[in-house]
Amino acid sequence: MTKSVFITGAATGIGRATALLFAQRGYLVGGYDLNEDGLRVLAADITAVGGTPVVGHLNVTDADEVAQRLAEFTQTSGGRLDVLINNAGLLNAGRFEEISLDVHHREIDVNVKGVVNGLYAAFPYLKATPGAVVVNLASASAIYGQAELANYSATKFFVRAITEALDLEWGQYGIRVIDMWPLYVNTAMTKDVKTGTTQSLGIRLTAQDIATDIVAAVDATWARRLVSQVHFPVGIQAKALALGARFSPAWLTRLVNKGLAGS
Ligand SMILES: NC(=O)c1ccc[n+]([C@@H]2O[C@H](COP(=O)([O-])OP(=O)(O)OC[C@H]3O[C@@H](n4cnc5c(N)ncnc54)[C@H](O)[C@@H]3O)[C@@H](O)[C@H]2O)c1
Repeated sequence: MTKSVFITGAATGIGRATALLFAQRGYLVGGYDLNEDGLRVLAADITAVGGTPVVGHLNVTDADEVAQRLAEFTQTSGGRLDVLINNAGLLNAGRFEEISLDVHHREIDVNVKGVVNGLYAAFPYLKATPGAVVVNLASASAIYGQAELANYSATKFFVRAITEALDLEWGQYGIRVIDMWPLYVNTAMTKDVKTGTTQSLGIRLTAQDIATDIVAAVDATWARRLVSQVHFPVGIQAKALALGARFSPAWLTRLVNKGLAGS
């Protein structure tokens, strides 16, 4: 039986790279996004690597549309949903009070409510598919609250928390729930971003780096399964920050983050 993956925000960046990698591995790929031009390019590229694309418009903030797209996709996949990737996201950088309230709210709608909508609608299909996995795109900004990314960082803490909680709740159905913690990735999202931490840490990762780690996390080794790894920092920098935050006293973690942010 062909495995299937449903990816939100698949038209560009990390979602697109992940869609192509799963297509190369023989998965039936459902790529969904607001950006339909990007999806047309993705569909052609999936076909070019020998896959069968399923693409469609989706606004993750619209719960009814999320449910509708998942119902259509699982009709095509014979009811299977092996992997759900909640990837669609927005990032607005700058000092908290200088970003309009509407923009903060929109970021919460997409990064928080969009993920809730995906999880909620996908649950019956995940439950019906042995070995199903949910991958949520959190971020290294879910390790410690980030200056000049306060609201974004807070949305990623939400993703971290719901991942941890549902890993516990859904384990009984055989559903793994994990999240990825990349630091800055060179995509459209970070194109015009200049913050203290982009200056101090740089933008070093590619979308392909994250896609590679997502596929590896889904096909987890027995060692990772044995310890039920939930969080997957991506890249050396995020791994070092995650390790530091776990073993340093709180005052030191704060000081490191203050120093990196230059604030
Ligand atoms: N780029 C980074 O530095 C970075 C770092 C850590 C985590 N992430 C996370 O990875 C994910 C993907 O980021 P990216 O860098 O590929 O960004 P991107 O901007 O290249 O791609 C995001 C995609 O999401 C889509 N999207 C936005 N709002 C949507 C909505 N309401 N409904 C459906 N689709 C929507 C966009 O059209 C776009 O195609 C995000 O959740 C982001 O927060 C990114």
